Amino acid sequence: MCGIVGYIGTDNNAKEVIIEGLKRLEYRGYDSAGIALHKGSVIETRKHVGEISNLEKIIGDKDFESTLGIGHTRWATHGAPSDVNSHPHSNMDNTVTVVHNGIIENYVELREWLTSEYGIKFKSDTDTEVIAHLIGIYYDGDLHKAVNRAVEDMRGAYAIGVIAADEPDKMVAVRKDAPLVAGIGEGCNFIASDIPALLKYVRKIYLIENNETVVLTKDKITIYDEKQKVVKREVFHVTWDADAAEKGGYDHFMMKEIHEQPHGLSETLNRRLNDDNTIKLDGISMTKEDIEGFNKVYIVACGTAYHAGLVGKAAIEKMAKIPVEVDIASEFRYRDPFVDDKTLFIAISQSGETLDTLAALREAKKKGARIFSVVNVVGSSIARESDDVFYTWAGPEIAVASTKAYTTQLMCMYLIALYMGHTKGVIDKEYYDMFIGELKAIPDKLQLILDKQDEIEAIAKKYKRKDDVFYIGRGVDSGVSYEGSLKLKEISYINSFAIAAGELKHGTIALIEDGTLVFALATQNFLFEKMISNIQEIKARGANVIGIAKEGNTDIETQSSEVIYIPDCIDEVTPLLSVVPLQIYAYYVAKFRGCNIDKPKNLAKSVTVE
Ligand code: G6P
Repeated sequence: MCGIVGYIGTDNNAKEVIIEGLKRLEYRGYDSAGIALHKGSVIETRKHVGEISNLEKIIGDKDFESTLGIGHTRWATHGAPSDVNSHPHSNMDNTVTVVHNGIIENYVELREWLTSEYGIKFKSDTDTEVIAHLIGIYYDGDLHKAVNRAVEDMRGAYAIGVIAADEPDKMVAVRKDAPLVAGIGEGCNFIASDIPALLKYVRKIYLIENNETVVLTKDKITIYDEKQKVVKREVFHVTWDADAAEKGGYDHFMMKEIHEQPHGLSETLNRRLNDDNTIKLDGISMTKEDIEGFNKVYIVACGTAYHAGLVGKAAIEKMAKIPVEVDIASEFRYRDPFVDDKTLFIAISQSGETLDTLAALREAKKKGARIFSVVNVVGSSIARESDDVFYTWAGPEIAVASTKAYTTQLMCMYLIALYMGHTKGVIDKEYYDMFIGELKAIPDKLQLILDKQDEIEAIAKKYKRKDDVFYIGRGVDSGVSYEGSLKLKEISYINSFAIAAGELKHGTIALIEDGTLVFALATQNFLFEKMISNIQEIKARGANVIGIAKEGNTDIETQSSEVIYIPDCIDEVTPLLSVVPLQIYAYYVAKFRGCNIDKPKNLAKSVTVE
C-alpha cells in the first residue's frame, strides 16, 4: 500500500513534481503525506497526518525547494496515522531518508537488533523506520551499496526510494513485490509507484521488475538485477491520456466512472471482436485441445473483482461446461487447493497489483496451472506474471469504490466463457451470435439507466437514514447483491448485508423487521416467481423493498415500495445493467450523508499488503 514518488533534476521543482505525483497516488492511501528534499548537505523533511492538502499547507515557503526529493502518501499498517508515523523516515543523524510502500515482515527482530547493537532510538512505530537505520549503519559514502546491503536483511514486500545527505546527485530505489516504475525525463528522472503519478512530466517509462535496484541521477537511470548486473530494459511508451484521470466536470471520480461505463464496455468488447464477430485473442493462444484439457477453472480475486468472478463462474459453467470454483485470494493461497497442470487459473484484478491475488497466482503457477488474468492496468505485476492477459478497457479508475472496472470485468468474463464454449463446441453458432448481439446492445441500455439518475437520487434521499440495508437475489442476481452491498458499505459506512434470497429464511430473516430496507434483485425470468415469493416473505415482516427488475415484469410493483427497471435483455447478462442502480444509489446515499466518496475512510484502491 502507500504511494511513493521521487524526482532528481536540474530545476528546483522537486517539490511541485512530487506533490503532483502524490495527488495521483492518493488512491493508494491518504492517511498522511510527507516529502523530503535534499538541501545543500542536509535533508529536510516535512510531513502531516491526513490528506495531501494538509501537507501542502506546511511546504509553501520559497526556502523549501530542491532539485532532489522523495515523497509519500500513506495507508497506515504499522503505527496509527500521525505526523510522527508519516513517511519519509530518516536515520538518527538524518543522513539517510526513505519512503516505503509495503511491509517489512521481520521489522520487530530488526528493530531489537538495531536497538541493542547500535543503540538506535526509534521515533515512530513504523516498520519503515528500520530501513532508514539499516541503510544508515551500512552507509560509507555509497548509497547504492548500502541499500543493497540493507535489503539483504529485510523480509517482506516493499518498494523504497532513498536519498542520502552526502550524495546530492543520486536517488536509489528497490522493488520487491510492490509496484515501482521509473520515468525518463530530459535532464531529470523520476520514480513512482504507478504511471499516472508521472504522466504530467513523462511518457517514457521503465517498468521495474521484482528484486531490481534502480540508481537515478538527473541524466541516467541504471537498473540492476538481484546479482547487481546491469539490466537492459525496454522503454514502455504510455499512450493514454493524463486527462482521463481528471474529474471532467463531475463532482466525484466515482460518478464520472459510473458514467464512463457505456464507453468502457464498448471498448472492452470491440477491441476483442473481429468484423465477423469472432473473438480476437491477440497473442493469447488457447486451442480447442487446451480448453478440452482443462478439468477445472479457479477464479481468484478480492473485493469487487471477486464479485465479478461469481458472475464469471455462472457464465463459464453454462457455456463451456467446465466446473468453476471462485475463491477469495487471501483464502486460496493458504489452503493448498487442488491445482495442477489441467487447471485454468483466472485472476481478476483492476490494479493488477493486489498482493493477495498476486500471491495466489504464484501459488497456482507453482502447481502447474495455466495463468490467465483479467486486468485493467497495462504492465501491472499480475499482467506480467500471467501466461495470458485479457485487458479490461475501462481506462484509469481513480475512485476507491470500483464501478467501471467491475462491469468491464464482467464483459471479459462473458467473452472468455463464449470463446471457450464455442471453441469447445458446447454452444452453437446461433446462441453465440445471439449472445454477441446482446453484449453489443449493453452500452446503449446502460445509458438508459444512467438517464434515470434523478429517479435513483430521489430514492436515495428517501432512504438515506436507513442504517441496515439488505440485498437479496437468486442466480447471478445474488452475485450482484454482494457487489451492491459492498458499494454501500465502502462509501456510506452503512451496515449492509447481501445474501442469496433462498437462504434468507435459514436464519437471516430474523433481522427483518418493520422498516428494514431490502434491495430485491429479480431480473432472472426463470426465477422471477420464486423471487416474488421471497419478497412477499420479507414484506410480510414490514420491510421496505426496492425491487430491481426487467422492464415489463410489473408484477413486482405490488410487492415493492419502489421499483427500478432495467432494460430487457437475456437473463445471463443482467449483471451488466442491474449493478448500475446500486452504484448510483450508494453514491447518493454517501453524498447525502456527507461522506468522502472517492476516498472512503480506512480503504485504499490498491492493496499491496496481506
Ligand atoms: C481493494 C479496493 C476494492 C477492490 C479490491 C481488489 O480492496 O478497495 O475496491 O475491489 O481491492 O482490487 P483489484 O485491484 O485487485 O481489483
